[in-house]
Amino acid sequence: MNTGSDNQSTTHYLMHNHAIIAQTSDATLTVEQSLGLSGESQLVGAKNAVLVIIASLILTEGISVLTNVPCSDDVLQMIDLLRDLGAHIIFYADKNTLEVDTRFITSYKVNPIIMKKMRASILVMGPLLARFSRAEIALPGGCAIGDRPIDFHIKNFEKMNVDYTIDGDFLIGVTKKLKPTTLVLEYPSVGATENLMMAAALTSGVTRIINAALEPEVLDLITVLRLMGAHIEILPPATIEIHGVAALLPVKHHVMHDRLEAGALLLAAAVTGGMVSLPQADATLMEVFLLKLQEMGHSLLIGPAGKGITLHATKQPRAVSFATGPYPGFPTDLQASMMAVQCLAEGKSVIHETVFENRFLHVRELQKMGAQITVNGDRVVVTGVDALYGASVIATDIRASCALVLAGLAAKGTTVMTGIHHWKRGYESLEKKLALLGANIILKKTTS
Ligand code: UD1
Repeated sequence: MNTGSDNQSTTHYLMHNHAIIAQTSDATLTVEQSLGLSGESQLVGAKNAVLVIIASLILTEGISVLTNVPCSDDVLQMIDLLRDLGAHIIFYADKNTLEVDTRFITSYKVNPIIMKKMRASILVMGPLLARFSRAEIALPGGCAIGDRPIDFHIKNFEKMNVDYTIDGDFLIGVTKKLKPTTLVLEYPSVGATENLMMAAALTSGVTRIINAALEPEVLDLITVLRLMGAHIEILPPATIEIHGVAALLPVKHHVMHDRLEAGALLLAAAVTGGMVSLPQADATLMEVFLLKLQEMGHSLLIGPAGKGITLHATKQPRAVSFATGPYPGFPTDLQASMMAVQCLAEGKSVIHETVFENRFLHVRELQKMGAQITVNGDRVVVTGVDALYGASVIATDIRASCALVLAGLAAKGTTVMTGIHHWKRGYESLEKKLALLGANIILKKTTS
């Protein structure tokens, strides 16, 4: 393993992190009913922001420093991916600080093992094409939450003058020179917007991405690219205009706080009838989600300029209906957790998933716990019940794992969840934060 450092304590953290990945493969999370969770929690940096920001560093040659980097397994995978390309990286996991030296990146071929494990690896395609005029990436496999094709990425890189061939398991993109042009996304894909924007930042001329995704994590990437020296404008309603430059410089950046972790903690208070305060949460980034919590009857206290959220749960939550959608709509990544909370609310909730076509695998697990849910295509109807009951459940994706933990906190008895690698991929020790709020939750490592 290339630690990029002789520093022994750093090596310790790096090895420690890898040990966590190995140990948790057969682990379980055991959750007992834990009513009235209360207290204050700090938030980590957003996984969905940091993954793409790490990928964007390929556009630079030098040493960048990122702070507020969560130590979750997907982040460790992205670190490994860049190391495999030649970057020298030190992760001070206890300080959530990452130093990335991109001067030694010489490879444009992405490790297929990492690619298969983490679909977000596709995000290095744009930076590699911009830096090397070539990118070789193993075709991403299917995924539990849907097919998740990459056609928007490919079609639009082709418009930027990239030719693609398939060699065995590898998709090879080659360009003589990237061409600036106007790109139209038929759907505001987060990953495609990010990938194309990164490539365009180093493409001489003006590239426009019309119907771009404007998720807060995309905006955090834009902040980083601007710090590097990129010229990027956002034009209403949803166009990103990039004036390419010849070179981009290394950066120092504090990654935005994780609005999805904030959502999970607010829902933990909501489902257990407690109170949680999140001084770092930004209410302006989660308005529709917060509106739905208020419609359920929960009280929210928002700090000045939207900074800081406190939720006092109602004892008699009402069911609410919602549809997921691109930002600023209800985030699909909070759909499963919000569904878990609806299971114990008074009345019926209709949930319409419009972003991913198969993102209801948590339904079966919630049903095992006594939830009354019926699925009809891309909609589910949840009828609130008086109680959920602990059961053995399987996490099928990152956000499903969170939903099952939330249900477990409110359920009578003991819930034992397997599929913990999903939990570890998305969250940095969220179980410890829940425990500090009073949750009876234990991560059991069954392998060594
Ligand atoms: C990102 C987030 C993920 C979140 C999702 C939607 C990261 C690492 N992941 O995923 O947590 O749930 O945004 O907010 O940031 N699509 C295509 N063709 C493509 C690309 C996408 O059809 O080439 C479809 C997808 O199948 C999906 C929809 O577009 O139905 C949105 O996907 P997209 O926004 O691209 O999600 P990701 O960037 O993969």
